[in-house]
Amino acid sequence: MAALLALPAAAIPKKRPVYTDPSAPIEQRVEDALSRMTLEEKVAIIHAQSKFSSAGVPRLGIPELWTTDGPHGIRPEVLWDEWDQAGWTNDSCVAFPALTCLAASWDPEMALMYGTAIGEEARYRGKDVLLGPGVNIYRTPLNGRNFEYMGEDPYLASKMVVPYVQALQNNGVAACVKHYALNNNEVNRHTTNVILDDRALYEIYLPAFKAAVQEGGAWSIMAAYNLYGDEHLCHNKRMLNDILKGEWGFDGAVISDWGGVHDTPQAIANGMDLEFGSWTNGLSAGTRNAYDNYFLAKPYLDLIRSGKVGTDELDDKARRVLRLIFRTAMDSKYGYGSLCSDEHYAIARRIGDEGIVLLKNDKATLPVDVAKAKKILVVGENAIKMMTVGGGSSSLKVQHEISPLDGLRAAVPADVTVDFERGYVGDVTGEYNGVTTGQNLADSRSPEQLIADAVAKAADADFVIFFGGLNKSAGQDCEDADRAGLELPYGQDAVIEALAAANPNFAVVNISGNAVAMPWVKKVPAIVQAWFLGSEAGNSIADVLLGAVNPSGKLPMTFPVALADNGAHATGSYPGVKRADSHIVDLEYKEGILVGYRWHDTKKVKPLFAFGHGLSYTDFAYGKATADATEMAADGTITITVPVTNTGAREGEEVVQLYISDPKCTVMRPAKELKGFAKLKLKPGETREAKFTVKADDLSYFDADKHEWVAEPGQFIASVGAASDDIKSTLKFNLK
Ligand code: BGC
Repeated sequence: MAALLALPAAAIPKKRPVYTDPSAPIEQRVEDALSRMTLEEKVAIIHAQSKFSSAGVPRLGIPELWTTDGPHGIRPEVLWDEWDQAGWTNDSCVAFPALTCLAASWDPEMALMYGTAIGEEARYRGKDVLLGPGVNIYRTPLNGRNFEYMGEDPYLASKMVVPYVQALQNNGVAACVKHYALNNNEVNRHTTNVILDDRALYEIYLPAFKAAVQEGGAWSIMAAYNLYGDEHLCHNKRMLNDILKGEWGFDGAVISDWGGVHDTPQAIANGMDLEFGSWTNGLSAGTRNAYDNYFLAKPYLDLIRSGKVGTDELDDKARRVLRLIFRTAMDSKYGYGSLCSDEHYAIARRIGDEGIVLLKNDKATLPVDVAKAKKILVVGENAIKMMTVGGGSSSLKVQHEISPLDGLRAAVPADVTVDFERGYVGDVTGEYNGVTTGQNLADSRSPEQLIADAVAKAADADFVIFFGGLNKSAGQDCEDADRAGLELPYGQDAVIEALAAANPNFAVVNISGNAVAMPWVKKVPAIVQAWFLGSEAGNSIADVLLGAVNPSGKLPMTFPVALADNGAHATGSYPGVKRADSHIVDLEYKEGILVGYRWHDTKKVKPLFAFGHGLSYTDFAYGKATADATEMAADGTITITVPVTNTGAREGEEVVQLYISDPKCTVMRPAKELKGFAKLKLKPGETREAKFTVKADDLSYFDADKHEWVAEPGQFIASVGAASDDIKSTLKFNLK
């Protein structure tokens, strides 16, 4: 036997190849691997080989790269070249709350927990790249994908995305931050050409991506479907080469959105590194199992072989993809991860608890006092409808999803009954990509009958809770289309009005990822914004409604009264104008930097609920804000402190917000801009200080002519408050 096993001495490598040596620096490993690869092998790793994977280098033992959606849980397995389910029985996951809810927590620690938990789930499922998180700025409440993003403010989104990326990648799973960039609506997403000035680009739409790259250290980024400067974002020279890789020094891989590449020479030259597709001609329709036809496959090889293009770009792309593989699939220091663990459910519930926003609470209507309210009536489809299925690529197959109704029923004491009435029939379908909810939501009653039945029971109940809002069906909070309007669908307004008239002990819970119109706002004493909360939805909602948890979320976006109150709509910009001679839709961001509350504050348009707004079951008193200096050097800092006291009877958390204004400047500045926030936990009677360190960066605007950030000397105003429309204390200081 020994003789059989013996290898000729010459066949035994003297040293292991550098690229296989985990102790060697990653750049050496990448260069070594690259130097061993053939032209064909290099091209093979820069495009997809299946719906969600790309080939590694089998000859060298370099593994495949597996991606998955993202961003709220790990997508169920689909067939190799189909969107249909693979039919696995071990691919159910925990659905975490939607990113709007995470942003509404205003707590970077929640983002850290989120990234850790979803990273462990991805790891367990053998995924190397999570297609998320999303940080496109909330520009219009109609955008069907706002629920996948982190709100309207670049500062808040930046602070929340960084820990998510870091914690995720601590599991050896790459973040793929999406959709870079200017993908701020879904309608015409493949054909919209965004036109905006550099100030808006740099001040509003890029900061969260930049933070994800530079502070979070994101290993990959997903280029968007739409166009900017007449070039698709998937091969956009300015955005990919100049800004992302040039100005920001991004060393990771640019991954195309699925089917977002349209041109081989542009993809070669303009910074696209790894092409994925919805169908296998790289576009969104076409032949199947033809990955060789991808723009960065055979067409690229042909150009190289015919001498029309060189191989420098190819080496750069292959290097970036190798780096991604070495950082993830080929790094053995990470564990196996875990799926559907108790810890993950606890994290999902905690983030839901922290992100739910109490919008209105007259006469302390909430929490429901179950010592008095023995008969609770729940009304509305969203109390029972599963929300983890649908919405597009973020759709999930969950191990469990607790509905609001079930969550409440499980949480109330034994002597309290929770009855249910439908109230309205919205969308009774429950399927996405072959994953079905298994719910039969059919109801043949007429709208009038549904309201009459709900009102009859409401009159007899001690407390009535309406659950409505949007859902994950097309045209609502769902990919590939926008909402038709700001209004609640399915006649919900009439149901709410009728219930409000029937019983004064009434609360409305709006489940959505977007602002909705509330024409009944004055008639309803308590309103809660509950987002899409994932697996633990019902538990988190019950926690807040029954008072086990004191709500502390704040809105990461403005709720306008009417659509025309939003800058993108007031200016007539949305959804753009189709060119007569082509399918391109030019969409000019006419409101410029005045996005969200910047518009409302500057133009003095009163919102329904302001950015940063959110109530608590306790009360907070703000003391006077003070600064450690009245003057700040250009390279210095100034520290602003404000004491906050819990003056109520129960423990609570308050998100203290710092806004900066530059009243006199040579360029237009928004009325104020968020530049700091701190979530303080306070016992009854306790006082703590929120401290903010302000730097010149926080005072500056982007000077497009100079192409640099400029803080003009002079006076600035710091406003500290509980919401963008609830400023408690201001102070002035000078920048030298
Ligand atoms: C979406 C991406 C998603 C990808 C893969 C695209 O249509 O825009 O967000 O990650 O599909 O499912």
